[in-house]
Amino acid sequence: MAGEAVIKILGFAGSLRKGSYNRSLLRAASELIPEGSTLQTFELDGIPPFNQDMERTPPDSVKEFKAAIKQADAVLIVTPEYNYSVPGVLKNAIDWASRPYGDSAWIGKPVAVMSASTGMLGGSRAQYHLRQSFLFLDVVPVTKPEVFVTFSAQKFDESGKLTDATTRDIVSKLLQALVDLARKIKK
Ligand code: FNR
Repeated sequence: MAGEAVIKILGFAGSLRKGSYNRSLLRAASELIPEGSTLQTFELDGIPPFNQDMERTPPDSVKEFKAAIKQADAVLIVTPEYNYSVPGVLKNAIDWASRPYGDSAWIGKPVAVMSASTGMLGGSRAQYHLRQSFLFLDVVPVTKPEVFVTFSAQKFDESGKLTDATTRDIVSKLLQALVDLARKIKK
């Protein structure tokens, strides 16, 4: 909107798989972001396993990840569900960015979550585990709408494009809610 600051969203996916539905969902989000916002993505594949001995001297990939979160007005996390919970790759990255104590990148950050699963619950159990971590992280979560992409094999075409109109619509609504929240917090 005219005169309003651009809201910078940082997005990342909890799957490293090339043909990942969640990575495809993140790409769809970049097509659907509201006017007056930008979406930059970050790849988690360079982030090593967390080691608390290194939390004050983290590797460059972690420094970059933390800096990207700190600079963003809002964060979008797109994740699969692994064994009814959050994939290790995602939890590991979140843990790095929360440390050392007193220098978390998460505090007060507006965060939205989406999940895609080949199953009938769309990753909801992973989302609720993630939202439990949000309590300790002191992020400001978008609570509605909830975006669970169920039976994802039917919602994307072979090139990874999100073709399901209902899903595209709810992703747009979630992104609008994230941008609205970020604007409120930025004021
Ligand atoms: C899965 N999958 C899965 N799905 C689900 O709905 N609930 C679950 O608990 C699990 N558990 C699980 C564990 C592991 C290790 C894998 C690899 C997969 C299936 C999952 O939804 C499916 O593989 C998705 O396609 C994974 O997301 P990406 O990689 O396509 O983004």
